[in-house]
Amino acid sequence: MNAANDNRVVIFDTTLRDGEQAPGCSMTLNEKLRVAAALRDLRVDVIEAGFPAASPGDFDAVREIAQTIEGPSICGLARCNPKDIRRAWDALKDAECPRIHVFVATSEIHREHKLQMAKDEIIRTAVEGVQLARELCDDVEFSPEDASRTELEYLGEVVEAAIRAGATTVNIPDTVGYTVPGEFYELFSYLKQNVTGIDTIRLSVHCHDDLGMAVANSLAAVQAGARQIECTINGIGERAGNCSLEEVVMAIKTRENFFGVETGIDTKRLYPTSRIVSTVTGMHTPRNKAIVGDNAFAHEAGIHQHGMIQNRATYEIMRPEDVGLSRSNLVLGKHSGRHAFRQRVEQLGFQLDDVELNRCFDEFKALADRKKDMYDRDVEAIIMNADSGKAGPWTIDELHITAGTGTVAAAALLLRHTDGREVREAAEGDGPVAAAFRALEQATGIDLELTNFEVHGVTVGDDAQGEVTVTVEYNGQSFRGHALSTDIVESAAIAYLEVMNRISRRENAEALSDTAGTAATGTP
Ligand code: KIV
Ligand code: ZN
Repeated sequence: MNAANDNRVVIFDTTLRDGEQAPGCSMTLNEKLRVAAALRDLRVDVIEAGFPAASPGDFDAVREIAQTIEGPSICGLARCNPKDIRRAWDALKDAECPRIHVFVATSEIHREHKLQMAKDEIIRTAVEGVQLARELCDDVEFSPEDASRTELEYLGEVVEAAIRAGATTVNIPDTVGYTVPGEFYELFSYLKQNVTGIDTIRLSVHCHDDLGMAVANSLAAVQAGARQIECTINGIGERAGNCSLEEVVMAIKTRENFFGVETGIDTKRLYPTSRIVSTVTGMHTPRNKAIVGDNAFAHEAGIHQHGMIQNRATYEIMRPEDVGLSRSNLVLGKHSGRHAFRQRVEQLGFQLDDVELNRCFDEFKALADRKKDMYDRDVEAIIMNADSGKAGPWTIDELHITAGTGTVAAAALLLRHTDGREVREAAEGDGPVAAAFRALEQATGIDLELTNFEVHGVTVGDDAQGEVTVTVEYNGQSFRGHALSTDIVESAAIAYLEVMNRISRRENAEALSDTAGTAATGTP
């Protein structure tokens, strides 16, 4: 392949690997599968599904995605050592198009302080890593970590050695978000001009956003010949995050006249995918976030509105519908039928099967009884939260709250278990949410330590739905739950119970497998 003559930029999504590594962004297996399906529908070229050697959970997620998601290449990350590489391959081998991504740090600071390895040892490690990965898999990517702070000539040597060893993609990471566009352009130009074999592989870019330049730096690399961009939905990732997929893709599309390249992304899926990732991770996008923020296409100033009425292009460089945002915001009411609901769901870019659609429609009807105006965001929130709090074993049958100024808040609730148990509990707390949480702990016998509590208004008005995300610690592990209701105490209780249910299900499964193990081995 001669990447220099190729005007197609490969979009490599690392939401499930680099994105998921960000504090507060960890996802359950089901959440990862949901995100992976959304990425496939968005038509990303590569999904980096995780780092299989990092934990059994990561391994399982990569394997499950490799086995079920068809279309994009499925990639797993590995350090340049045989154990990591073999583990990555075990997770990836059933994928339609597997890719192993190996990396080793190359900058002086990493060599001396992290790895305590000399330059030639690093090159040997990189070569051996790439060679082993190539024995297992035809598609191998190599990354010199902290490339942007690596001595240029030495970086060229490492990259050349990796190409000779069989790498099919070489990725240049700005691991700490240190570079600036002009400098990064020079770095890529240097590699293009000085590395033998560079035009036989795909050159890739991977930027972090510590100085707010991840998208600009990625675009500079494309101008200098990179033909793969590594990015994440909503720009989630370590520290300040990674290059935002929606921003970089829309920059390439909107300024095609300047960049002269294209991606294969179905841009109408950008907004729904962004919503899925923000709901799943609990990381909400700021209102003014480019492309997918609430205000990204809102025009407030009179002069702007006047111009827009004459000709939209006066103040709009992209059409909201091109990123999957519909213009009509006030949508359905309580008299709307299933057909109209389905149509709206599809216009919003979601594909639901009949069972999911019926479940969401029932929720929609129940909400429409309580709420005057239904907005697109309400419909999206229903779809995204359709499962929260319903997987059991516990459900809330009744929740009564007393609270007020100068009184101690109290909660009384009735919980029902799938085994038929009914438990009534009452508790007091510093506020209504604390009282509800305490009553839930008494009822389920599961004590959680709340580490984060967030409420997010889904729409506007005094009957707006409140989306609550709770993060808790249990036995040294962090869990997240979220739920939605026009009553935020109810949302908080459902979100808290969602976590308790997850813990209960896991403990039950462990108890069952222990019993099965004991029966099989005959040991106590
Ligand atoms: O930022 C980084 O250097 C990485 C590599 C593993 C590609 O994420
Ligand atoms: Zn990274």
